[in-house]
Amino acid sequence: MTAEKDWIKDLVVYQIYPRSFYDSNGDGIGDLPGILQKLGHLEELGVNALWLSPVYRSPNDDNGYDISDYQDIMEEFGTMEDWDRLQEACQKRGIRLIMDLVVNHSSDEHPWFVESRSSRDNPKSEYYIWRDPVQGREPNNWASAFGGSAWEYVPERGQYYFHYFSKKQPDLNWACQDLREELVAMMHKWADKGVGGFRVDAISYLDKPLDFPDSALPPQPDGYSFPDCLAGRPGTHAYIQELNRRVFAPRQLLTVGEVSAPHVEELCRYVRTAREEFDMAIPFVPPMVEIDTWSPQKLKRDIEESWQALREDGWWARFFSNHDKPRQVSLYGDDGAYWEVSAKFLAMFLHSLPGTPFVYQGEEIGMTNLKLPRIEDYKDPDTRNRYRQLLLSGLDPEAALARAQLESRDNARTPMQWDATENGGFTTGRPWLQVNPNTRTIHVEAQRQDPHSIFQCYRRLIALRKEQPVLSRGDFAFLETGPGEPLALTRTLPPEGLLGIFNFSRQPCQVPARLLERAGEPLLSSYDREGGWQGPALRPYEAALFRWKPV
Ligand code: NOJ
Ligand code: CA
Repeated sequence: MTAEKDWIKDLVVYQIYPRSFYDSNGDGIGDLPGILQKLGHLEELGVNALWLSPVYRSPNDDNGYDISDYQDIMEEFGTMEDWDRLQEACQKRGIRLIMDLVVNHSSDEHPWFVESRSSRDNPKSEYYIWRDPVQGREPNNWASAFGGSAWEYVPERGQYYFHYFSKKQPDLNWACQDLREELVAMMHKWADKGVGGFRVDAISYLDKPLDFPDSALPPQPDGYSFPDCLAGRPGTHAYIQELNRRVFAPRQLLTVGEVSAPHVEELCRYVRTAREEFDMAIPFVPPMVEIDTWSPQKLKRDIEESWQALREDGWWARFFSNHDKPRQVSLYGDDGAYWEVSAKFLAMFLHSLPGTPFVYQGEEIGMTNLKLPRIEDYKDPDTRNRYRQLLLSGLDPEAALARAQLESRDNARTPMQWDATENGGFTTGRPWLQVNPNTRTIHVEAQRQDPHSIFQCYRRLIALRKEQPVLSRGDFAFLETGPGEPLALTRTLPPEGLLGIFNFSRQPCQVPARLLERAGEPLLSSYDREGGWQGPALRPYEAALFRWKPV
């Protein structure tokens, strides 16, 4: 990050998934006027950036991540005038508006693709990736991220096109200069309209190998293999650098890349200042769903590793949740007996780390996963595919459904719970996706009035960050702790310091006296409802923040 971009360190980003935030006209679908009406919620939380998942025109195969017009708004969400009003309102409140930028692929209903598929020699012929059949079949064995082959045959051209995501999301051909000019012009138009930055979707796949070799990875249950030479090619980095040079830097945009980063060196390639790519990244690492692979110790190791790699030069997007992951309190916490304390615990842990905190809608009230009774109830194409693959791998339907329920991206996409009424105050109509019945008890209205709610914990954390530069700019370290001891971290910006201790478990644990030697006044506790820090033991999911004397 360059010195001029120091303001990034003061951001707290709130992510809205527009379809599920607030429905203003009773059609069951969240919309832009709905977001405008609820902007006070963001203001009350204290966030100063809003990342909007895609609101562009789209036939909605993947909830807007399939764009058919980059310069227009999805009809169900409203009009460009609604967008302008939202942008103005954000600006007035000091909230930077970040748009999702989906340029790895478009919709197959985008006029570019409609033209491109019509013949081999039309003016948009090269805008997408076309290959001849090989021995009457797909050009190679690559699997799409959403299941099945990554290739789809088009009789008009007698060729296949490449789609890393669904077949309604054909990949754009970044090697085509005319296409790049169109995309750059599009980005400038949004910058002209006052966009404050972009969260750049699935950006690791722009450059494709010309020869598309077969993947050597083991096949998925349906026989296709995920590509082994697609993510992070040098050509992709060159395209990102071109965007930075031509758009991001001159327009002073905040940029967050969604990147495939199987190791920390790869993450660094996207965010080191000298690379001139992104300000920060949302990295993902296969396996995408961490249900079986995460642990507090692994989390600690990953945080430590990325801190060491980027502390001198770089920055971190900090998140436990987004629209592609199960709900954080269900995945990393406990959505049963320790629901409230574990939700606060996760918030306190994340907001204590160096980097920019991201809050995904609903996490600030501890929204949980929802098990839908039948696979047909799931709207997410990825969930349906996962279910198919699980059946193919030999699971019986009940076991496959149970697994899909845990993993489904729809867990994070159920409508926002504003109040205790049947549809959670989200809509007066029929919601596009079922509202979690626990809206009877988990909702914004109750938590706004309750001084000890999860919502108030988020407000305090965000306020604390504004009062204490040690959180946004301080040095960071984990203190050494062993098995059975809590995680402990410090932030320091002499003369200020902060200590956090975290019992990431359902069992109580002792706090070794050495950890508290330089601890001062307690600042925040996940057990504030029970009177806060009592020491010297920590209760299940107890998190405590203290002032701390740096030596
Ligand atoms: C990542 C997005 O976050 C996800 O929701 C989407 O399905 C894929 N990219 C494809 O755009
Ligand atoms: Ca609506």
